[in-house]
Amino acid sequence: MNFDFDTVIDRRGTDSRKWHRYTGRDIIPLWVADMDFLAPPAVVAALHRRIDHGIYGYGVALPKMNATVVDYTQQRYGWKIESEWIVWLPGLVCGLNVAAGAFGEPGDAVLCCTPVYPPFLKAPVFQQRTVVAAPMALRNGRYELDLAAMECAVTPRTRAFFLCNPHNPVGRVFTRAELEQVAAFCERHNLIITSDEIHCDLILDDRPHIPLASLSPAAAARTITLMAPSKTYNIPGLGCSYAIIPDATLRRQFEPPYGGIVPDVNILGHVAGDAAYRHGEEWRQALLVYLRGNRDFLESFVARELPGITLPHVEATYLAWLDVSALHLENPAEFFEQHGVGLSGGAAFGGAPSAHLRLNFGCPRATLREALARMLRALAAR
Ligand SMILES: Cc1ncc(COP(=O)(O)O)c(C=O)c1O
Repeated sequence: MNFDFDTVIDRRGTDSRKWHRYTGRDIIPLWVADMDFLAPPAVVAALHRRIDHGIYGYGVALPKMNATVVDYTQQRYGWKIESEWIVWLPGLVCGLNVAAGAFGEPGDAVLCCTPVYPPFLKAPVFQQRTVVAAPMALRNGRYELDLAAMECAVTPRTRAFFLCNPHNPVGRVFTRAELEQVAAFCERHNLIITSDEIHCDLILDDRPHIPLASLSPAAAARTITLMAPSKTYNIPGLGCSYAIIPDATLRRQFEPPYGGIVPDVNILGHVAGDAAYRHGEEWRQALLVYLRGNRDFLESFVARELPGITLPHVEATYLAWLDVSALHLENPAEFFEQHGVGLSGGAAFGGAPSAHLRLNFGCPRATLREALARMLRALAAR
């Protein structure tokens, strides 16, 4: 089957957060992480069937939905999980917040490696924890977790480590050796690991995704894995995600705030997620081909046409971490916005405000091409 990722679909005037920000202004939004593509046809068809039923009462996660996740993790990563390890969540930012508050006491710390997806830095603070940050190391143009920096940052009150793998925003897929080092570090410091693996089905290089918890029973026993079909199948507005928690004690600690405060997964989210996992593989493969094309186009355009901007090779995700420090712009996000491109500023990711921008290339090639042309003109006009 052919899938069309090229057609530009007008999202203006819909309830899109990404597009609403620039209502009435000619700015191409390449910021928040959703894609300007239709969801897989199997997902749209499943939603139509559910909508046509006409009754939208309270939902329940059916055993078949757990079975879908169990099958998916086994087939995709060779990771055998049990149905009762799954805790459904209406979003993974919610999962980060629940994880931040579930372990230790107020005043304890969560270790994060920066730059990182902003809620990693905010969730602990919302849950009366502090964040200790270990900057990642940029070695030969590639970001790596810096074990020495992590050793320096960790404190006696650090109870938890938040990992993002594949990594938003630097696009890394951590290797088995890297993950083993992280697991050993967390074992040594007795840290509970929350491993956000929401981008795990968006690997662009020929590399496997290795769930950290699948490394060993010891790693599994201290890890909460956060996953969702939302990024991959472009259904984040439907709020369907889950945590996988093999250890029964950790699961009990994670669950109490969940009861009552956190709503159930939306019934349409379950339908969409289930259809995506069961019937979305052909679409996903086509998507990966398209995103690889966008990634390659972006990387070569930046290298060729945008002096002063560099980016590490994007191994996974549809997000690129642009280093714009050589441009010496006081506020690079505002600068490019004034020239018609809406990017995410680097400060929220724990970096210097003038140094980085995150660019979302999950869009038709024509949109990406136009945005890059605008950036080129912006730099030429300086
Ligand atoms: C690493 C990571 N975690 C979580 C999320 C958001 O998850 P949700 O929309 O389920 O809250 C994102 C969205 O970009 C993300 O990149």
